[in-house]
Amino acid sequence: MISKKMESALNEQINKELYSAYIYLSMATYLAEQRYDGMASFMKVQAQEEVAHAMKIYGYVEEQGGRVLLDAIKKPESDFKSVKTVFQTALDHEKYITKSIHELVDLAIGEKDHATKTFLDWFVTEQVEEEANMDQIVGKLEMIGGQGHGLFMLDGHLGQRKAH
Ligand code: FEO
Repeated sequence: MISKKMESALNEQINKELYSAYIYLSMATYLAEQRYDGMASFMKVQAQEEVAHAMKIYGYVEEQGGRVLLDAIKKPESDFKSVKTVFQTALDHEKYITKSIHELVDLAIGEKDHATKTFLDWFVTEQVEEEANMDQIVGKLEMIGGQGHGLFMLDGHLGQRKAH
């Protein structure tokens, strides 16, 4: 069993993960419009992963006898200044999600809720990867600058990402 407070916090995290999927889908439409089809595909895969994150928490709340309560999903940003802005926004968003996961861990520790703490360990590790991925792309975009050839190469590379 989980506490009502934990149930509510996990429900909020489900909403944040679904909102993440929404943001990445919105980024995908912007990138496709700019003809960066590889990057758009990358963002669609990212969105699928976010839905999977939400469902992982959904399953856990159910397993613990809690009630999943879905809330409205905020409208995502749809206008981005550049490809670099897209990935910088993604990196900033992942940092925000990491903070949110860490706050959940703090709550689990405070409540001596070992089961939830163990469940959240996967997300702590996942967030390290999520931030590193976005950070690496932002770094590459800084190296490339506005060069068309470099952007074309990166687009092809990012388009190879497959859902797992
Ligand atoms: Fe589910 Fe990208 O954090």
